[in-house]
Amino acid sequence: MKKRDVIIACDFPNAQATLEFLKRFEGRKPFVKIGMELFYGEGPDVVRQIKALGHDVFLDLKLHDIPNTVNKAMRNLARLGVNMTNVHAAGTIDMMRAAKEGLAEGAQGETPMLIAVTQLTSTSEQRMQQELLISASMEETVKRYAKNAQSAGLDGVVCSPLEAGLVKGACGAGFCAVTPGIRYPEGDMGDQSRVTTPQKAREIGADYIVVGRPVTKAEDPAEAYLRVCRDFIGE
Ligand code: C5P
Repeated sequence: MKKRDVIIACDFPNAQATLEFLKRFEGRKPFVKIGMELFYGEGPDVVRQIKALGHDVFLDLKLHDIPNTVNKAMRNLARLGVNMTNVHAAGTIDMMRAAKEGLAEGAQGETPMLIAVTQLTSTSEQRMQQELLISASMEETVKRYAKNAQSAGLDGVVCSPLEAGLVKGACGAGFCAVTPGIRYPEGDMGDQSRVTTPQKAREIGADYIVVGRPVTKAEDPAEAYLRVCRDFIGE
């Protein structure tokens, strides 16, 4: 799998809408992200169908459970042939390590990339401290969780583009930063508040960007996708 790529967040209500959307990309097969809504609504077959079309798949299910359960679940996700999946770093280093082992055990070929969620961007520092009783700052927490993920053998973390530099500083350039929150200045922000452009994400050091509505809601999604690729990958 090539390093530095654009992942389209396929936030559609069902498999039919997703497959119709993917038909619009002739020739190039974008890397797609499938989230909980589609996976829980359609089941694992939607992943098999999209893989059969030749797309790489990031299955964004954010697992968080005891190590043994996560290990077994990851074996099954690896058998689906996903290329990338994720866990919550809050599940501890042991859980992340078990997840990674499960992926390696279930993989038919290359082991899927495993990345960790540090703190959800919907969690504010205030709520993290008051409700979760984490007294460190958000920055310190993200940094520590990223380092935990690295010591468990994970490939990287999901983080806001503005945190990518922090993660690279703490874990080194080889540790992947996968960043959503991508917008063009003229685009609709939707519900995102901390955003950056594909060019800026590249400068900051993001390895993969996750782009949803700027592509899925564009008049010409294939053209919008190619623009993001040109700006982020340079091709
Ligand atoms: O449409 P948009 O470009 O905002 O989509 C971004 C995608 O990345 C969505 O699937 C969203 O759930 C996901 N995401 C995010 N922020 C995070 C983690 C995931 O926007 N912190």
